[in-house]
Amino acid sequence: MKQRENFSSKLGIIVATAGSALGLGNIYRFPCEAGANGGGAFLIVYLITALLIGTPLMISEFIIGRRSRSNPIGAFRTLSGKKSAWPVVGYLGVLCAFLILAFYTTVAGWTLGYLGKSAANHFAGQDLTQIQAQFISFTNHPWLPVACQLAFLALTAFVVARGVKDGIEKWSKILMPLLLVIMVVLCINSLTLSGAKEGLRFFFNPDFSKINGRVLISALGQSFFSLSIGMGALITYGSYIGSKDNMVSSATGVVLADTLVAVLAGIIIFPAAFTYGIQPEAGASLAFTTLPMVFQQMTGGYFFCLIFFLLLVIATLTSTISLLEVIVAALTEETHLSRPVAAIIGAAGTAVIGVLATLSFRTGSSLHIGGSTVFDLLDHMTASYFMPIGGLLIVLFVGWVMKRADAMDELTNGGTLRSGLRKVIYCIIRYLAPVAITVIFISQLVR
Ligand code: TRP
Repeated sequence: MKQRENFSSKLGIIVATAGSALGLGNIYRFPCEAGANGGGAFLIVYLITALLIGTPLMISEFIIGRRSRSNPIGAFRTLSGKKSAWPVVGYLGVLCAFLILAFYTTVAGWTLGYLGKSAANHFAGQDLTQIQAQFISFTNHPWLPVACQLAFLALTAFVVARGVKDGIEKWSKILMPLLLVIMVVLCINSLTLSGAKEGLRFFFNPDFSKINGRVLISALGQSFFSLSIGMGALITYGSYIGSKDNMVSSATGVVLADTLVAVLAGIIIFPAAFTYGIQPEAGASLAFTTLPMVFQQMTGGYFFCLIFFLLLVIATLTSTISLLEVIVAALTEETHLSRPVAAIIGAAGTAVIGVLATLSFRTGSSLHIGGSTVFDLLDHMTASYFMPIGGLLIVLFVGWVMKRADAMDELTNGGTLRSGLRKVIYCIIRYLAPVAITVIFISQLVR
């Protein structure tokens, strides 16, 4: 059998998982969803779902991954026997990785484009209308957004082809902490803006009357998306965790860091949006108009803007790497393709749908299905259906199909770690998480 690679240290799992989790989900999608779903009301539900359901689900994926030492498809086969139907969950996960990667690389391409724009100093001295016009003309450009997307995919495939340790770990370790630092600086800057009070009120004051089925599922979907859970990405990463690593503390650390970055993004974006008169419901353009506005008025804005978009590109890259890794781990282990070939096939397959998602952003594009763009459709399908259902099946599998002794064995590293807290986590995985996910999932269906 081929020797599988492992992450080299405990820091390795935290760094790689955090690299997967931190990305456009935090900085682009979170403010977008919070803005569209009433701000504070969304934040509250988001925090509860991320901490209470997200952490146990992340741990469940690690349990399945490390126990089986396999990709999501092989993992369910190994743990449930040859004839069972559970590997279907693995196949769904791989399909989901493919669909997410397709629309994710649309926005990933924009980050590259915006990195270019910041280098060329395109935002200096521009007012809101001009910056909004830049976003529209960029997304409508005949080939630029597609070229940026393909470049991003190629970059991802290049890193994944080189393998787990050299690729994923190295990239993640270097620049994530720096992103945090620059976000704190931006946060302080936003707090000095004239719309700070109003923005913070919008973001932190929950209006409970706004909580409905749609807000619940959006918050659940966002927390799964942001934490990279519910489709097997972290089963794949879990399969590279060393047997002595503490998966409970690693998962908790990643969830806290991811939540912190999302909240920081909110504190950066909402005060600025209220200051410059950008609607919090602006959707896709929210981050890409607000942030340039912030930079162009800030002292040292050119410099901060350039570094910020550079770090955003890298944070995004560590996320696309984890998505492509799901496809590549499945292809190399389920067939006999080599890593580089699998990476190329995965990226090329993604490109086909991904380009449609990017083109669907053009004004007047006919790439609409049932009234929404291909981009929105992929986003909605994965976050509101695939990931909640995948997440539900994953916690059910660990809680009810795997033997309790095996799950506890993983949770306690063969009995060497104290088990008090871990018993509570096991109970959440077995009872609370499945019930909560089911209730939220159904609440979106009965409106
Ligand atoms: N979590 C990443 C983000 O917030 C995106 C991502 C990476 C992802 N891998 C994933 C989302 C797996 C869902 C599933 O940007």
